[in-house]
Amino acid sequence: MTTIERPDNGELTAPLDDDAFYAGDPFALYAQLRREAPVAWNSAKGYWVLTKHADVLKVSKEPETFCSGRGILTMEIGFEYASPPTMMHTDPPAHARYRKLVQPGFGPSRMRALEARVRERARELVAKIEPGTPIDFVPAVAVPFPLFIIAELLGVPEADWERFYRWSEAGIPGEKDWPPEENLVLLGEMNAYLLAATKARRGEPDVGIEIVSVLANVESDGEQLSDDELAMFLGQLLIAGNETTRNTVSGGIYALAENPEQWQRLVDDRSLVEPAIEEMLRWTTPVIAFMRTATRDTVIRGQDIAAGDPVLMLYASANRDEDEFGPTADRFDVGRTPNHHVAFGFGAHFCLGAALARLEIRALLDALLDRFGSLEPAGPAERTRSAIIAGVKHAPVTFS
Ligand code: HEM
Repeated sequence: MTTIERPDNGELTAPLDDDAFYAGDPFALYAQLRREAPVAWNSAKGYWVLTKHADVLKVSKEPETFCSGRGILTMEIGFEYASPPTMMHTDPPAHARYRKLVQPGFGPSRMRALEARVRERARELVAKIEPGTPIDFVPAVAVPFPLFIIAELLGVPEADWERFYRWSEAGIPGEKDWPPEENLVLLGEMNAYLLAATKARRGEPDVGIEIVSVLANVESDGEQLSDDELAMFLGQLLIAGNETTRNTVSGGIYALAENPEQWQRLVDDRSLVEPAIEEMLRWTTPVIAFMRTATRDTVIRGQDIAAGDPVLMLYASANRDEDEFGPTADRFDVGRTPNHHVAFGFGAHFCLGAALARLEIRALLDALLDRFGSLEPAGPAERTRSAIIAGVKHAPVTFS
């Protein structure tokens, strides 16, 4: 590493390494970092922390200078991978190849084909909610909804959904208090299952909804995806498509319950559903942060960064940055426009499932607004202890 001057923000950034910190209210610290140390150095683990929206955009736009191949989570600092564990860990030019291969699985025509099914699932779950009776929105709706959808996309039959749920939980550190060995067993089971199911589709016609059919039959330069590549994609889809959407809807619905005037605005004016989706994404920012590693000496906001330095982009802070969102940045406003949040990341790795996630949130909001005129909290929400996913364990609410 090049010798450069690094500030010591060890104390200020230490809470970021503590999973329990995220179960409380992390936003005051994010604001302090934006004010006092927008490019802070975490000396305990050795990484830069970026909390400003503009800096997150800059790093996301320069994959040649800030690479993903050396890990995207601070727990991966120092890891060397023989092959990338997910597509998110790839860089140009390999990343462009993967992206081209899987993109057809998420195109507009596939989303249109999926819409009726997504709306049907949303209506089924919403129909089970008793008006005037408190429910925990997490197990009642937020967990099963994206799980059903992703299971359908991956061609997993209903009989296997319980196992599927456990695999998804195992993929997110901090999501469940299972011992690490159990997590590893579950992830191994998941890979074997998904791989076998997908390989069984090879040569079969694409029935139009299942992404597995695209992946099973996709060819690049005359080659099919290898078993390792297939397992990588499938595992990533299961985990990426599940936890993120779940927490957007549970955190977003709870925010609407805490701000009943915002729910009322939606009831009165359904044209606000589109900006409300973006505000739910900004507000909840389910992926708290992802990391890059500097490939060469560079500068961010006047601060020298050395080749080899890990750089953490704190999306959850960027999405509350006053310089981007103005004096109302810390207010939940379903009519907010423009709303250039970074909940889906930015640049080359921009979330592949963004259209699907937006479709799911829209279908759910429509189903709820069709049925209920009011929404209020029925107790405090409980958040998960994870530095990666901003999760909601319990979201007690009452619809009437
Ligand atoms: C609200 C829901 C979601 C959020 C907040 C979210 C967030 C993100 C973020 C921040 C990234 C950027 C990764 C990076 O820059 O390193 C990403 C990438 C990705 N997401 Fe999502 N995601 C969501 C839903 C989904 C869904 C539903 C799927 C698929 C079914 C999905 C699949 C992916 C994939 C495959 C990538 C990797 C793209 C690449 O490396 O080029 N996501 N997502």
